[in-house]
Amino acid sequence: MASSDDRRFTAVPENPFMAAMPADFLWGVATSAHQVDGGTTGNDWAHFERRPGAIADGAVSGPAADHWNRLEEDTQLIRELGANAHRLSLEWSRLEPEPGHWDAAAWEHAERELALLKAAGIEPMLTLLHFTLPQWLAQRGGLVAGDFPQRLEAFASEAGRRLGGWVRLWCTVNEPNVQMLYGYVTGQWPPGLRDRTLATRAFASLLQGHALAARALRNSCRGARIGAAVHLVLAEPLRRWWPPDRLAASVVERGFNWPFYDAIRDGVIRLRLPGYPRLEQPLAELRGSLDFVGINYYRRNLVDFDPFAPGFAGLHQGPGLRSDAGLEMYPAGLLQLLRRAWQRYRLPVIVTENGVADAAGSLRPDYLRAHAYAVACAVAEGVPVQGYFHWSLLDNFEWTDGYRLRFGLYRVDFASQRRLATPGGDEFRRLAGLLRRPRRTAGIGC
Ligand code: NOJ
Repeated sequence: MASSDDRRFTAVPENPFMAAMPADFLWGVATSAHQVDGGTTGNDWAHFERRPGAIADGAVSGPAADHWNRLEEDTQLIRELGANAHRLSLEWSRLEPEPGHWDAAAWEHAERELALLKAAGIEPMLTLLHFTLPQWLAQRGGLVAGDFPQRLEAFASEAGRRLGGWVRLWCTVNEPNVQMLYGYVTGQWPPGLRDRTLATRAFASLLQGHALAARALRNSCRGARIGAAVHLVLAEPLRRWWPPDRLAASVVERGFNWPFYDAIRDGVIRLRLPGYPRLEQPLAELRGSLDFVGINYYRRNLVDFDPFAPGFAGLHQGPGLRSDAGLEMYPAGLLQLLRRAWQRYRLPVIVTENGVADAAGSLRPDYLRAHAYAVACAVAEGVPVQGYFHWSLLDNFEWTDGYRLRFGLYRVDFASQRRLATPGGDEFRRLAGLLRRPRRTAGIGC
């Protein structure tokens, strides 16, 4: 039976921002360095991509969208979308090509990009670690290297010192739960392992790294606002009446969605998952290390009990329309997760990513409007949502899916590197315009 949230999304208004939105709401686009820059050959992904069969169609990231050489043009594109914010990441392997050696030219390049954004009135949100590790660090054990947290701390400190004048909003890590799952449980991503003990260690290490990086940023960058970007799945039991399915759905909630932020709230790194070593590690520095909760939202999953799946949780798609990635589009899930994040942590929330694989470009306008509506509904209910970043500005290198999936508000013709406008971009711009209009507040709501 459809819930009242589901019914709300059957007819999304042309203007989804019926409730008063905060005047300084961040309406932005998101990218990551390895996926768009091109030439990021010194990291673990560049090495992993060469393994036969690792990436769809045998693709490698290679020149990606050549963003490294197109800063002016791409900044102008962001501006033309009416965005007031851009979430981007630093490529650690370029900035620290050897342990302890900072590459001055690479840092200057980062500064130039930030300066361009600022000059265009676009607020940057900078992610330190968006999956890729310098190869020298990967060779020493990557996330489970004994000094990983201290290495991330040193990188954060350098970034804060050099770039703090340009950046207020920081994400320490991106999707730590995904990096742990694909890197150490399913083995589809670097380092390509299937080892649950190491998976648990990688998870703890990412949290330790976050705590140290947050402290380093606070010390080196005055006024820094610190968050992370965690991938959240709306997990619902496939058969609500069947207790094993309910249990399996709760494993996704407890084992995948919340452990990272719970650890920060509690000052204890904790993992209690069927089939994994138990983890219970107090780390007081975690408390207070977060100023906002970042949510990457892409999917609902209907979950059944499956003894062969990780965590005994078999994931299925619901009945709605699906993206090219085969994921059901389910905007009501974003509303529910925004509510839950606020109830759980009582911190401002930012949608650090949301987007859809849609090569034809025909799904994205409705998708965008419906998810903007989910954000507006949450705001109307009193959830302090401070921003929304659409993934992505441009088509880009989509990890193991190579160039098969297209997420861009601009389509990229990778042969010529031409950027082409899409209906999704037009809708993004229209919504930006609505956000900035004087608000109607009375008598209408979500
Ligand atoms: C989340 C990841 O952070 C990003 O790198 C990826 O491209 C998008 N999801 C789309 O799958």
